[in-house]
Amino acid sequence: MLAADYRGPFRIRAARKPMPKIEHPQDAILRVTRSCICGSDIHLYRGLVPDTRVGTTFGHEFCGVVEEIGSAVEDLQVGDHVLVPFNIACGQCHFCKQKLYGNCHEANPAATAAGGIYGYSHTAGGYEGGQAEYVRVPYADVGPLRIPAWMDPDDAVMLTDVVPTGYQAAEMGGIQTGDTVVVFGAGPVGIMAARCAWLFGAGRVLVVDHLPYRLAFAQRYGPAEVYDFREIDDMALFIKKETDFLGADVCIDAVGAEAAGSALHSLFGKRLKLEAGSAIALHWAINSVKKGGIVSVVGVYGPTGNMIPIGNVLNKGITLRANQASVKRLLPRLIEHLQQGHIEPKALITHRLPLEEVSDGYHIFTAKLDGCIKPVLYPNDGR
Ligand SMILES: NC(=O)c1ccc[n+]([C@@H]2O[C@H](COP(=O)([O-])OP(=O)(O)OC[C@H]3O[C@@H](n4cnc5c(N)ncnc54)[C@H](O)[C@@H]3O)[C@@H](O)[C@H]2O)c1
Ligand SMILES: [Zn+2]
Ligand SMILES: [Zn+2]
Repeated sequence: MLAADYRGPFRIRAARKPMPKIEHPQDAILRVTRSCICGSDIHLYRGLVPDTRVGTTFGHEFCGVVEEIGSAVEDLQVGDHVLVPFNIACGQCHFCKQKLYGNCHEANPAATAAGGIYGYSHTAGGYEGGQAEYVRVPYADVGPLRIPAWMDPDDAVMLTDVVPTGYQAAEMGGIQTGDTVVVFGAGPVGIMAARCAWLFGAGRVLVVDHLPYRLAFAQRYGPAEVYDFREIDDMALFIKKETDFLGADVCIDAVGAEAAGSALHSLFGKRLKLEAGSAIALHWAINSVKKGGIVSVVGVYGPTGNMIPIGNVLNKGITLRANQASVKRLLPRLIEHLQQGHIEPKALITHRLPLEEVSDGYHIFTAKLDGCIKPVLYPNDGR
């Protein structure tokens, strides 16, 4: 089959690989119809995630048609078109029982912190990803959800990560009616977080980035007030001036470890690797939130140390909440929001590419070229 093939930092190509096989009675094999490239994939692509092995296939946001099922699969049937949450979860462990599907204790025997994620290095379980014509789906009765007849598969594929992650970012913010919410990052996740903040009753939503085309998108789609951080000297002071000198009620970090905006953090974290990437967006979030406020982190950080201003967290009495999105838990609610027209996930898709062009897809998305918000690959011509 054809699949994306990681060849080392900044090198991905489409290559022929062996077909995936049923390895466990609870597995299914899908013929992939849609597979997104995510901001999380950029961390892999840049070689920043430990144990990202040459020859592996990325891709954790995909839909596909069930081609084959293992002997213990009861619910899924051959021919079903399903969307697949990016978390691989057993559905039965201590954490899955609490609906913490992003923190499953069984799916990633290599680590006790990170759960299992498709195509996300051996630190996330070493599973092959869905930027391929076919993919193996473990625990097939747990994650995959049949795409209802009324749902556009382009909306469905956005429900595998971007929509639940943006929604959970807003949810973890504990937004109260009328709250001022600041979202750092106007990528697909930040844009969706801004949109979802309104669903929780926000009174004001501000989005911060440095890419004018993304800020324009967030302004329209959020809708949100948008600010270019290159034009702001002191972020905390700026947000305080915007909020009667109190600070924002809620700050959301939808950037993660590759943040721009601080020469110091870029030098320490990205060049010298003395910390795990640059955490400047998280600094801004902590320093811009009001005392007693909530900082919600969905931007991805590695397990090793970062220079985080924990003293400010303590002295300001901030609640810091963070997680991988628990996609399966949120799907029923998000499907209702989709059905009622509160969210329009596929509107974020700017680039549709055949799998053969995966290399271009990564380049365009990583370099933020051509107005790119969200690129989607269509293996098997999307059928
Ligand atoms: N927790 C989860 O479950 C989960 C799921 C999906 C993605 N993520 C993470 O969310 C983050 C965003 O994902 P995405 O797909 O939107 O990525 P993206 O790369 O498309 O977007 C990131 C945006 O942040 C902007 N940015 C850079 N530095 C900034 C700063 N200092 N302040 C404000 N904005 C800044 C960039 O210009 C870019 O527009 C990534 O870290 C990704 O790994 C987490
Ligand atoms: Zn993703
Ligand atoms: Zn589990």
